Amino acid sequence: MTDVKPKTQARATALRCEWLVNPTAIEAESPRLSWEMSSPERGARQTAYRVLAADSPEALAAADGDLWDSGRVESDRSLHVRYAGPKLESCQRVFWKVKIWDQLGCDAEWSEPAEFTMGLLNREDWKGVYIGNHLGMCNASPLLRKEFALKKRVRRALLHATAQGLYHITINGAPAHDDVLAPGWTDYNKRRHYRCHDVTSLLPKRGKVCIGAELGEGWFKGRITWGHRKESYGGRTALLAQLRVEYADGSVEVVPTDGSWKSIFGPIRRSGFYDGESVDAQLEPEGWRLPGFNDKRWESAAQVRTLPKNIPLASYPAEPVRITEELEPVAMWDVAPGKTIYDFGQNFAGRVRLHVRGKAGAVVQMRFGEMVNADKTLYVDNLRSAVSTDTYVMHGDAREVWEPKFTFHGFRYVEVSGCPVRPSLKNVTGVVLGSDTARVGHFECSSKLVNQIYRNAVWTQRANFIDVPTDCPQRDERLGWTGDAQVFIRAAICNMDVAAFFTKWMDDLIDAQTPEGAFTNVAPQVLGGGGDAAWGDAGVVCPWALYQCYEDRELLEKMYPHMKAWVAYLKKTSRGLLRSPELTHCFGDWLSIKANTPKDVIQTAHFAYATDITRKAAEALGKKGDAKRYGALSDDIRRAFNKAFVKGDGSIKGETQTAYLMALKFGLLSEKRAEQAARHLVADIKKRKHHLSTGFVGTALIMSVLRDIGRVDLAYRLLENTTFPSWGYSVANGATTIWERWNGWTKEGGPGDVNMNSYSHYAYGAVVEWMFDTIAGINHGACGFRRFVLRPMPGGSLSHASATHRSPYGLVRSAWRRKGKRVRYDVTIPANTAATVFLPVKTLKGVKLDGRPLVSQGIDVRDNGSFVLPAGEYALSW
Ligand code: BGC
Repeated sequence: MTDVKPKTQARATALRCEWLVNPTAIEAESPRLSWEMSSPERGARQTAYRVLAADSPEALAAADGDLWDSGRVESDRSLHVRYAGPKLESCQRVFWKVKIWDQLGCDAEWSEPAEFTMGLLNREDWKGVYIGNHLGMCNASPLLRKEFALKKRVRRALLHATAQGLYHITINGAPAHDDVLAPGWTDYNKRRHYRCHDVTSLLPKRGKVCIGAELGEGWFKGRITWGHRKESYGGRTALLAQLRVEYADGSVEVVPTDGSWKSIFGPIRRSGFYDGESVDAQLEPEGWRLPGFNDKRWESAAQVRTLPKNIPLASYPAEPVRITEELEPVAMWDVAPGKTIYDFGQNFAGRVRLHVRGKAGAVVQMRFGEMVNADKTLYVDNLRSAVSTDTYVMHGDAREVWEPKFTFHGFRYVEVSGCPVRPSLKNVTGVVLGSDTARVGHFECSSKLVNQIYRNAVWTQRANFIDVPTDCPQRDERLGWTGDAQVFIRAAICNMDVAAFFTKWMDDLIDAQTPEGAFTNVAPQVLGGGGDAAWGDAGVVCPWALYQCYEDRELLEKMYPHMKAWVAYLKKTSRGLLRSPELTHCFGDWLSIKANTPKDVIQTAHFAYATDITRKAAEALGKKGDAKRYGALSDDIRRAFNKAFVKGDGSIKGETQTAYLMALKFGLLSEKRAEQAARHLVADIKKRKHHLSTGFVGTALIMSVLRDIGRVDLAYRLLENTTFPSWGYSVANGATTIWERWNGWTKEGGPGDVNMNSYSHYAYGAVVEWMFDTIAGINHGACGFRRFVLRPMPGGSLSHASATHRSPYGLVRSAWRRKGKRVRYDVTIPANTAATVFLPVKTLKGVKLDGRPLVSQGIDVRDNGSFVLPAGEYALSW
């Protein structure tokens, strides 16, 4: 008898390294490897794994793992397993695969192979210098080129690149990368990122290679913030890059940026985010991107600077900004002779690709807007000083394609003028840009209105996750406002896999934190000051959310000292543990409606909240002493809060919805006071004829607090409102994204206050979290989705609702449908996880699982009425 067990149908799939799929520049000493277990079986669980890593696909296929063999490890772990083989070197390529064992101890087939490549780990690996044009201070974009000859057959070629400004690189005429706005935004004086592009397929078999680069101003040199300020980080755009060619015989040649490159100013005369891009196509030297081009008249590139020693240059840790979709306009109309407006039917961030015909020298112009005026002309008043205009001087080719490279706009409408022949709908393409975070969540229900609110939030996320989480994509702002990000982060996590995106932004927060410990109001920091309640709190709220949803303990560990510094800052800037606007600036409950929550209440409540999160983080990280200290501190703040702001009848200073919401959500009240406060909250909502009065701070809290105080009915009512102020009000007025203000546009008054009126601002989109965790009922567990909670709460006018969320373990689905008094509830629980299910029923007696009474199926029901379902798909009904 042998004890060979049959193979299981389970498999390790979706292999990732440091959150990314086959990344090309990993810098972690022992990279973290993750996978999903997929299995059609109920109760599927991983009981063991084995990881093999090898230097080549052949060695990996031979299953001997010439680099590392973890051996069989008895563990259910499938997230963040550390590579523990020999030390990895710069540019080393590692192939890896995983075998898992299931709940019966049967082993699976090996996973499909995956790979990762190490980045440039040492300063000495960088061989070149930053290069640019001698007239670097000019607004035009320099072109840079370098030719060289391949010596032998190529095995692999990697292009490492970064820039002061933005780069766009081609190899023998073909784009070397599909990311745009590279290398992204950091505080360039504190940290710079490089990207690594695998360009093997672009190199010819033999002969000459031409690397061509074009630079734009971007965040480094272009306008950001107000007052026409430019050059936040420096006045010279420059490229630092190197092509690393690995020949088949193992030898390596590196072609770095240096004085041997040639340079000239190119067709882009001006480029910037706020004002747009101007191109004179007649200035494009024909064939300059190809080998053999005569560049004798070009200058030698200026060697702008060597890589600054004190500034870390790290690989970009997230998915880059890419073109994520292309849209065709849904309508077009002329507003003047030769001036046509194209309507994409959707507000988004990106740019327009135009196919045009015409004479050389004709000047084509595109202007962008989120709205049109009553006479259907373009509305641009809310862009403030952002000119948002792209211009193009035609080359005179029979057919020209023009798409700006170094700008983006937030818009639904584009006004095109100056075209000799009016472009048809097909010749105008909306190019959607955004950080290419994978879509992992979908929500859908029977209400058209709610579906549209959801859709608007997703589009607003897409429009504002552009390298950093920004407030808006259209006006002269587009900054990494921390308050907006912290209220929206959990909604963002429902929709997209933002683990790597926010990992990157955590570094921006760290870089921006002041020596006193204040997290800033924007990150990267470009405004000065900071430390506002509910804004700076992003530095504790976000890492905690990332830990809870993605189990990223390492990130929490990294952020922890910064969280402590924030709490210390808050304490230092308080008096008697009360914080107030006399001591530090506070935005308040930004853009609330006829309700003025006192700033000291907001500041002190958030002080308690931040301290409590830091306590939880300390507990999670096993720092018992700290946990005790922060526990005691938050108790003291709570006491001070109650003494100063809470009356004997449970009313709270200011008596606004947001005051009650914070106190309830952050657990600041005794049981008795909480009951009273809840009554005050409900009374205020009723007094306003069932409307909210909340701004950025309160809106993120209101729905979950109403649920937690047992008034999910009221929450549904707010969600389904279409009268002012409500989410539905914007939808009733044609919104395709979430507005900054509840009254951004009204039928009676038209556009709201032009000084600050974005139609693409995600803060109020925080309600998406409630769609997932309450309507559909998908909740992470205490730490991640290993053990999670399903708790759907049907309500309102909804007859069905369904959400899917691809967690790091795989797809979670929760879908209910009401038919008369009966409810059918379908769930999917991914392999290697289990869900605690709470059903909206008084007793489980009438509940069926797969058509048979649930209680008769040996399922363990807890005292609170919940029960645990292991992995699998289930049909419940009652
Ligand atoms: C931004 C906001 C930001 C706020 C600070 C605004 O200009 O657009 O979203 O949070 O300033 O209160």
